[in-house]
Amino acid sequence: MINIALPKGRLGEKAYSLLSNIGYGCDDYEENSRKLIFRDEKGGVSYFWVKPSDVAVYVERGAADVGVVGKDIIEDGSPDVYELLDLHMGKCTMCVAAKNDWYDDTSRPLRVATKFVNVAKKYYAGLGRDIEVIKLNGSIELAPILGMSDVIVDIVETGTTLKENNLKVYAQIFPISARLVANKVSYKFKNGELLALADKLSNEVNK
Ligand code: PRP
Repeated sequence: MINIALPKGRLGEKAYSLLSNIGYGCDDYEENSRKLIFRDEKGGVSYFWVKPSDVAVYVERGAADVGVVGKDIIEDGSPDVYELLDLHMGKCTMCVAAKNDWYDDTSRPLRVATKFVNVAKKYYAGLGRDIEVIKLNGSIELAPILGMSDVIVDIVETGTTLKENNLKVYAQIFPISARLVANKVSYKFKNGELLALADKLSNEVNK
C-alpha cells in the first residue's frame, strides 16, 4: 500500500488526475467531496486530503509515504523528507513586494510581513539587511497598505493581487512549483514502489 498526501484544492485535484492517469486511481474517488481518505485496496493506494501547508508534516512523520507540496513550503519549513520530482505545476514566484511609491529607508530595520518567516529571514540575512518580521497567515498584501509593514515576502502567481492593491514586485527570491516528496523510511523500505511511482509520474508530467 502506498499512502499519498495531497493538498486540498486545485493543485491536489490536478495531482490526483496525473496519478490516476498513470494507474494510481481510486475507484471510490469523488471530486469536491468532503471525505478525507480514499483507499483502493486492489490498486494498493490510499489518498489523504490535507491542508497544503500540512502535507510535508504527514510525509515527514510517515503518516504518508509520499506527498505533493509546494517548493515555498519546503524552503520555509525545511522538512526532513526527500524531494523526488518537480511536477512543473502550481508555478509561481516568491517575491518581495511593496507599495508603488515605496523607498527603502536603510537607517532602520525593514518591517517585513509574511507567512514565510524563514524564507524572509534567510533572504535578508543574505543581503545583510536588518529586518523585523511580522508573521501573518493570509491577505499579506494588506500590511504595507495599512502601514503595518514596509514590504511583504509572498507568493506571486498572476500578479493580480498586487496590481489590484497598488503594490509591485521589487525582487524575485526563487521560483516555486509543486514537488513530489517522500518519507525517508518509506523511501528505504518501499523503494521499488516509490521509484516506480516517481518514474511513471515523471514520464507523465514531462510528456
Ligand atoms: C496567494 C498569495 C497572494 C496571491 C497571489 O494568496 O499570498 O495573495 O495568492 O496570487 P496572484 O499573483 O495570482 O494574485 P492565497 O490565495 O493563497 O490566499 P491568502 O491571502 O490567504 O494567502
